[in-house]
Amino acid sequence: MKTVSLTIDDRQMTAREGDNLLWVALDSGIYIPNLCAIRDKPEPMAACRLCFVEIAGRERPVTACTETVTEGMVVNTRGEQALALARHGLELLMASHALDCAHCSKSGSCELQHIAHHLHTKLKSRRLRKLQRDLPIDGSHPEFIYDPNKCVLCGRCVWVCREHLGVGALGFAHRGFERVVTTFGDEPLGATGCDQCAACIGVCPTGALVRKAGPKQEAGSLGQ
Ligand code: FES
Repeated sequence: MKTVSLTIDDRQMTAREGDNLLWVALDSGIYIPNLCAIRDKPEPMAACRLCFVEIAGRERPVTACTETVTEGMVVNTRGEQALALARHGLELLMASHALDCAHCSKSGSCELQHIAHHLHTKLKSRRLRKLQRDLPIDGSHPEFIYDPNKCVLCGRCVWVCREHLGVGALGFAHRGFERVVTTFGDEPLGATGCDQCAACIGVCPTGALVRKAGPKQEAGSLGQ
């Protein structure tokens, strides 16, 4: 495949033509906030709206996960417009996210905390009214706890469980504000065909899916 030269944040690099811009940046050690990108998924979900970058010649910032690299591309991941959009996306996400870092076992390794730090912003919005979902926490599984109030609907757990491993214990249900990651027929997680591989915990960016004993390094990863 043809190789192209591009510049990201003043760093010149090469990549294979057609490679995804987000993964080229991340693989080069340049962080771009992201939650819903999955390396092996052919079509990006582009749902979290956090991976905005500015590309020379483009009128507006674009999401890096939906862009492929081209010859001569000049990318700025730190442009003010892109960062403002990412901050806005995080603020919207956090408006319906249970914010209880002090008691969350994922605190310290939560990707939301990392993203807020990267964007120099706070997790708690001062502008938006909190829209708490107050969904029941599922503690039926012998190993895991699922707290849908901490889920950001990134889809990583659904992907790894269904597409990657073929188990299919988790899926999306409903639309809009009611959208939720759940089990078939909304069964308790402990009553599903979950084989306890813990891959979902390994890819969950927040404290939505954690071990009962608290988080520890899981083997499962989608190359995030
Ligand atoms: S990672 Fe690009 S929109 Fe979520």
